[in-house]
Amino acid sequence: MVNGRRGEAYDLHRRYLNPQFVRVLEVIGFNRNYSSAKGARLIDEKGREVLDFLAGFGVFNIGRNHPLVAQVVREMLDADPPSMIQMDAGAISGLLAEALAELTPGDLDAVFFTNSGAEGVEGALKFARQATGRSGVVYCERAFHGLTLGALSVNGNEEFRARNEPLLPGCIPVPFNDLEALEKAFTENDVAAFIVECIQGKGVFVPDDDYLPGVRALCDQYGALLIADEVQTGLGRTGRMFAVNHWDVVPDILVISKALSGGFIPVGAVVTRREIHARIFDCMDRCFAHSNTFGQNDLAMAAGLATLHVILQEKLVENSARMGEYLMQGLEALAGRYDMLTQIRGKGLMIGLQFGEPTSFTLRNRWNLLHRMNADLFCQIITMPLMQRHHILTQVAGHGLDTVKILPPLVIQKTDADYFLEAMDSVLKKAHRFPGSAWTTVMNMGLRTLKSG
Ligand SMILES: Cc1ncc(COP(=O)(O)O)c(C=O)c1O
Repeated sequence: MVNGRRGEAYDLHRRYLNPQFVRVLEVIGFNRNYSSAKGARLIDEKGREVLDFLAGFGVFNIGRNHPLVAQVVREMLDADPPSMIQMDAGAISGLLAEALAELTPGDLDAVFFTNSGAEGVEGALKFARQATGRSGVVYCERAFHGLTLGALSVNGNEEFRARNEPLLPGCIPVPFNDLEALEKAFTENDVAAFIVECIQGKGVFVPDDDYLPGVRALCDQYGALLIADEVQTGLGRTGRMFAVNHWDVVPDILVISKALSGGFIPVGAVVTRREIHARIFDCMDRCFAHSNTFGQNDLAMAAGLATLHVILQEKLVENSARMGEYLMQGLEALAGRYDMLTQIRGKGLMIGLQFGEPTSFTLRNRWNLLHRMNADLFCQIITMPLMQRHHILTQVAGHGLDTVKILPPLVIQKTDADYFLEAMDSVLKKAHRFPGSAWTTVMNMGLRTLKSG
């Protein structure tokens, strides 16, 4: 039935899901109607291969449809597992919790399973408030922690917050990478926790090396808990198992999700110290002080165990570090040759390509005109031809940012990186040519957005 109706996908979404999103896909030419996927590759309806440098926003660290995880999921279904009895403690969730306790830094060894990243953030905020008896939460400007109301209250992007106020009281924004501002927030407020992405996903901003160790010291000094949101950066993405490992920092609460089940089943985990956990679940009456229905479902737990095995067995953390360095070097070389590519940021396979105003008079005029029409459009001059001419899926790193982000599966090889770098070279060459078709396309899109509002 699905195969017979696959061609109706966009119509169905227009009618029953999100028609504005379908409009976007059609305008930027990302409507490829995919039929299958494996590793770092997607296959579209015409049989064309697309190199996936987006990985489902960082879900497919081990590549898509990994055979070992697929086999484990199939075997689980065949075994009629006693999943979600609720009034029982399952073995598979125990094993995955044990595996996470071993992988996470320091003495983090108490696990709570969730269905998503945002749910993990909600749990972390509740744990911090209950454990400290304080209510305030400090968060970073430009931070992204998910879009449920609690997570949104610590989201530093106005475009997501707008139309939802009033949000949770006592949430205090500070600039990222600014220890003085953090200390000021701690001295002026009753703070339960500071929540931070070690590398910010929106824009791929990497802090100075003294930032996270400094954050740890300030949290200790003022008695606030440190929540590291590793929903995107965790499980090898940045070239270490967790991004906190780059700076030898042990948070009080670590939030994991996205890549944990290999992209098969929604799952997440909040990992904290036993002593913090025991302050929330402090007596038998409170054994359900925080809970959910699907968190420990056996399929997700088994997929999680298999995924961790694959990450370790295939040395994907090491590959992420190696391929990330190779890509960053190649991109730096391109930045030296192309005026508008001004900075390469990132670690491992989480990389941001920052663009900036060109120096040549005619190009600068176009740049300014386009930005006056629409501050979000410039990056399409890169991502659209990457898809249309080179069949590479990438994303814009956030609203109002001239940053393209790449987030490939950690299984990519040097040939994939070389293919991407050659494609970028060609796309950048065209983007620096004016007049040229690259600019005509985005200027026309700018005019359309002005007209359609
Ligand atoms: C750092 C971070 N935290 C939380 C979330 C929210 O995760 P989810 O979309 O699974 O709710 C995301 C999602 O992109 C994220 O990148």
